[in-house]
Amino acid sequence: MRNIVVLTGAGISAESGIETFRGAGGLWEGHAVEDVATPEAFARDPGLVHQFYNLRRQQLLAGIEPNPAHVALARLEREFDGEVLVVTQNIDDLHERGGSENVIHMHGELLKSRCVSCGEVSECRHDLTVASECPRCHAVGTPRPHVVWFGEIPLRLPEIERALIAADLFIAVGTSGRVYPAAGFVRLARAHEARTIEINLEETGPGGAFQESRRGRAGEILPDLVGSILARDA
Ligand code: APR
Repeated sequence: MRNIVVLTGAGISAESGIETFRGAGGLWEGHAVEDVATPEAFARDPGLVHQFYNLRRQQLLAGIEPNPAHVALARLEREFDGEVLVVTQNIDDLHERGGSENVIHMHGELLKSRCVSCGEVSECRHDLTVASECPRCHAVGTPRPHVVWFGEIPLRLPEIERALIAADLFIAVGTSGRVYPAAGFVRLARAHEARTIEINLEETGPGGAFQESRRGRAGEILPDLVGSILARDA
């Protein structure tokens, strides 16, 4: 076995204290997340959208830490004698803080902003407002969260597809499988003969997409799974 691709979703960060999208009512101050995380919402009310992401950024920077699931994936990357790629739908930086280096944030990153005028992507650890200035072109009001909203195209898809086609093992962790294209990755990997494993608290759908499903908390299951992959690889 040479190539492992791990797709992660909100469930892997849940044990760190970040709420999932589709759990707990899925509302933010009475707005459906789908009504805030769109280009139309940003055009209509940029202040509201900034406020939504400012709160998430503040929360991420104020004491949220990686959990054993993030740390296990970093160990897999470090110790596996082959290629490990983490493709995450999460916009937090917990994989990096857990020690993973080969990470693709297909839905963007909360700790970055992007200027809608010049395209510059910059580190962003502060609140954004309609008065924020682009550090490169100095336009005012143009920096937006560097996140992929509903209706926008995820980042680095060709690279992800190449990795899925080459994967011998595909593991999905803590994702509801409701949002495409990520939800279709298992089929692509399987069509190219990868073994497929899912880790989730719950059943994620009509089933059958994954060869193996492990039910439970990612922070408990993933360290054992990584241990057994490494033992087999040794
Ligand atoms: N361990 C394992 N799985 C868990 C845990 C846990 N501790 N806690 C929750 N889960 C599972 C839930 O059962 C659920 O299936 O994680 C999944 C989280 O699902 P969603 O909230 O739908 O998150 P995700 O799949 O990442 O959403 C995809 O949707 O809103 C957009 O862009 C956003 O990236 C996000 C995308």
